[in-house]
Amino acid sequence: MSPGALRIDLGRLRRDIEALAQIGRDADGGISRPAWSPAHEEARAWLVDRLRAAGLATRVDPAGNVFGRLGDGESPGPVVMTGSHIDTVPHGGPLDGALGVLAGLECLRTIADSAMKLPCTLEVAAFTDEEGRFYGFFGSRAMTGSLDAALAARLTDPDGLALGEAMQRAGFDLALAPQARRDPRTIAAYVELHIEQGPWLEAEGVPIGVVEGIVGIRRRRLTFVGQPDHAGTTPMDRRRDAFFTAAEYATKSRELVIKGGAGRSVTTIGVVQVLPGVPNIVPARTALLQEIRDAEPVVLERLAGRTVAAARRVAKRRGLTVEVDELLRVEPMPMSPRVQAAIEAAAGELGLSVKRMPSGAGHDAQILAAVTAAGMLFVPSQGGRSHRPDEWTDWAAIEPGVNVLLGTLLRLAPGR
Ligand code: HGY
Ligand code: MN
Ligand code: MN
Repeated sequence: MSPGALRIDLGRLRRDIEALAQIGRDADGGISRPAWSPAHEEARAWLVDRLRAAGLATRVDPAGNVFGRLGDGESPGPVVMTGSHIDTVPHGGPLDGALGVLAGLECLRTIADSAMKLPCTLEVAAFTDEEGRFYGFFGSRAMTGSLDAALAARLTDPDGLALGEAMQRAGFDLALAPQARRDPRTIAAYVELHIEQGPWLEAEGVPIGVVEGIVGIRRRRLTFVGQPDHAGTTPMDRRRDAFFTAAEYATKSRELVIKGGAGRSVTTIGVVQVLPGVPNIVPARTALLQEIRDAEPVVLERLAGRTVAAARRVAKRRGLTVEVDELLRVEPMPMSPRVQAAIEAAAGELGLSVKRMPSGAGHDAQILAAVTAAGMLFVPSQGGRSHRPDEWTDWAAIEPGVNVLLGTLLRLAPGR
């Protein structure tokens, strides 16, 4: 059968996606598989079993990344890699990350079943902690040699659990994670299938998104430090209230990003920690975990600087101080034109229209892009919903996306 005639087995893929979605299922129907948690480790073990059952050479590296290889030893030379992540945000959906990993597995199974002569070794990866419970894109950073060991040593999750401790509980050693680095010359190209997590493909009725570039992210903790006081006896003008100061900053920073951004700049404060955290003490400390994202490095840098300056001004005016701790720094990254063209050609062969577009979500592909030709394709998200239990994409919309991934993988083989 010619490579162009290969088609995936949607039923087989659907059983995998539905099985994985049971691991870490919440009472509210969402899925919680935070990196290194028991649910995540159960999912890792399940994935290793599925990769082995597919006859792939399977391994887990020191950073917890899971790999399945097809053609190991048959065809030397650099691999064409696909993949994504199996960790989730709390109360997330069944497709963010999981679709890319399991679609990659399905593509490799389909190619193996065809008994076609492999153009090169093909690999599917599940990268650890893409969502950044601790260290965003931890696994893909470790594989590409871009881990900051000092940062990794001090990162905790929002509940204060240290990354090293969480890894140890899962049977891994943070100190060994840098050994996951791979020689970039062993990877010819990387392509990732992902749900769009936004509204544009569905709104325009386009089945395939070809990602041109992925936004950069600055994630930092801003800790406003005031002083505790009695909530009843302390006059309002004598307080150094860390919560109201943080709240004034938060509103101001939102305005700064909307007005000073480039139209698609976004900012989110998803974690607020108030101490001592009882109603009858004026808050002495308030920590905000804030993200700023933009597709342009210059804009992102400008917004990051202006918001920190605003935090210092607000704190000073109210007699407080503010501590700024950078937790995640990911640069905006263009996707490989070669990979974009391969996706477009694979979609064209299936008679599918495409939309070239940016990604407002961060992905492992932007980390891989630093060391190899990397690209992404999207399938539509219903209502643009993601990072929530009702994240969904119909099977009829998933199937063409996975077949385009299949065609893209074969097109990316060296020498094609
Ligand atoms: O946050 C993101 O954009 C991705 O889901 N990690
Ligand atoms: Mn996500
Ligand atoms: Mn994702």
